[in-house]
Amino acid sequence: MKPLTDPFNRRLSYLRLSVTDLCNYRCNYCLPNGYQGKAKPDELSLAEISTLVRVFAASGTRKIRLTGGEPTLRRDLADIIAVCKAQPQIESVALTTNAFKLAKLFPTYRAAGLDKLNISIDSFDPDTFFEITGKREGANILRALDGLLEDGFYPIKINTLLLRRHAERTVPDALRFVRSRPVTLRFIELMQTRDNFGFFNQQHLSAAAIEAELIEQGWQLLPAQAHAGPAREYRHRDFAGGIGFIAPYSKDFCRSCNRLRVTAQGKMHLCLFGGVAYDLRPYLQQGDDAALQQHLHQLMAEKPEHHFLHEKKVGLIRDLSMIGG
Ligand code: GTP
Ligand code: 5AD
Ligand code: SF4
Repeated sequence: MKPLTDPFNRRLSYLRLSVTDLCNYRCNYCLPNGYQGKAKPDELSLAEISTLVRVFAASGTRKIRLTGGEPTLRRDLADIIAVCKAQPQIESVALTTNAFKLAKLFPTYRAAGLDKLNISIDSFDPDTFFEITGKREGANILRALDGLLEDGFYPIKINTLLLRRHAERTVPDALRFVRSRPVTLRFIELMQTRDNFGFFNQQHLSAAAIEAELIEQGWQLLPAQAHAGPAREYRHRDFAGGIGFIAPYSKDFCRSCNRLRVTAQGKMHLCLFGGVAYDLRPYLQQGDDAALQQHLHQLMAEKPEHHFLHEKKVGLIRDLSMIGG
């Protein structure tokens, strides 16, 4: 069967699969009162994930990113990685994590075949890290990350959210961090969701403003190799690492969209800010690969060309933790 494409000639080769809604952090921009307690019984099982991944791989998916909530809270995450790797068409399996306990868990993920790692570090100052996430883990996470780098696991990306209140300190700290480390750090612009309206208005800072400021300071930002996806990434000749910007409000952000998203309960979203969720679970439970594949092809006609954040519509999702960003 031919690969999934949408009416705008984009190939949907990248699946972002959330494996749990649960998170052990309470980031002030995301989950201030969020999910706690036991794993919800309605998460996709390993068998359902296996079917899902098999059908997506047969439909043109080449990269799978496991997200959450916090994906490492799933005890069977290494098995999930292995199930993704078992599909020969899948070229890379990536993980987006807050890196809590990563030093302990990472060896099993690596043994299962994990190819890429994105770590969220919203501040390099332990007190600010605590203020944002509610966890006193900042220093441990930086230590664990340096441990992974010493062991030679590449590539690692760091996601750092731009918050007006902290940027003056966080931006220079982040640049200092990548000067000596072979990681790409992307500054992420805060996105508005249904729940963070007041916070968004106070704390949103445009990534373009930071980018312009760096250029004004004489930074020579050289475009890094073109890569599929909405982030803009640069190199700097004196830096071991790279710098990037994820600026969803910028023009053309969605033009190169290559993503589909599936929630921990098996609902597919065609856009991060798309309102409609298409339930794939009945197909996963039937175990009818051909029916699911046909259904996916039909749904591609509904993929929107871009999000509607520019029209000042509030994002329809409740928070990004429920859909894995
Ligand atoms: P790579 O696969 O390494 O390119 O990373 P990624 O940017 O796809 O993944 P990651 O999970 O690290 O996402 C970083 C941030 O970018 C998160 O805040 C996501 O919500 C945001 N992001 C990723 N993809 C999209 C997208 O398609 N649309 C929007 N608006 N934001 C996205
Ligand atoms: N806006 C932008 N990024 C967000 N994330 C979570 N909520 C938001 C939001 N409202 C990011 C986190 C993490 C990634 C997985 O999603 O900062 O790095
Ligand atoms: Fe958890 Fe990630 Fe949301 Fe923070 S941003 S509360 S780490 S899901």
